[in-house]
Amino acid sequence: MLNPKPALVKADRLLRAFGPAPGLTPRLKMRNIGGELPPKERPMDKTLAIIKPDATKKRIIGKIIERIEEEGFSIVRMKLVHLTKNEAKGFYIVHKEKGFYDSLTEFMSSGPVVIMVLEAESAIKRWRDVMGATDPALAKPGTIRRDHGFSIERNATHGSDAAETAEWEIDYFFKK
Ligand code: CMP
Repeated sequence: MLNPKPALVKADRLLRAFGPAPGLTPRLKMRNIGGELPPKERPMDKTLAIIKPDATKKRIIGKIIERIEEEGFSIVRMKLVHLTKNEAKGFYIVHKEKGFYDSLTEFMSSGPVVIMVLEAESAIKRWRDVMGATDPALAKPGTIRRDHGFSIERNATHGSDAAETAEWEIDYFFKK
């Protein structure tokens, strides 16, 4: 439509600003001129988060979970497990050629970990922002890894790095 009627333009502006009104017709609810879905209809992202053995050993599971909830994530799956070395190797298979693979998987199977699926808008990016850079020494002040990480390997938490990875990682630990 080249010149939409003023009433329709106004309806679209309201829809984009406030989401669909309760009485709106299904057709108007479907209109999405700006390309952005109204807040209620935006799909939630999921990411996999792990509280690593260095953090569980320091008894800061509660602190990290509190932070996750304060940041607005919903924890939709969660379990405390002690991974075998083989399970850790399978999880970090993408790093199998790296020099740190053996040490990393030894560390990840050295004590209990808390594995969670977090849900939020842009969960993957937001969780990575809350964690901070992989190397705690380079992570910004106030991030989990800066506050609680010990080294680039023993960095307190893990988070998926992309949508496909998140799906694979969630399946790895929570496939029904
Ligand atoms: P994580 O977010 O779990 O993803 C891969 C992990 O490998 C990373 O956190 C670190 O624990 C570890 N890692 C990445 N780079 C190095 C490195 N250079 N030396 C040792 N461990 C590393």
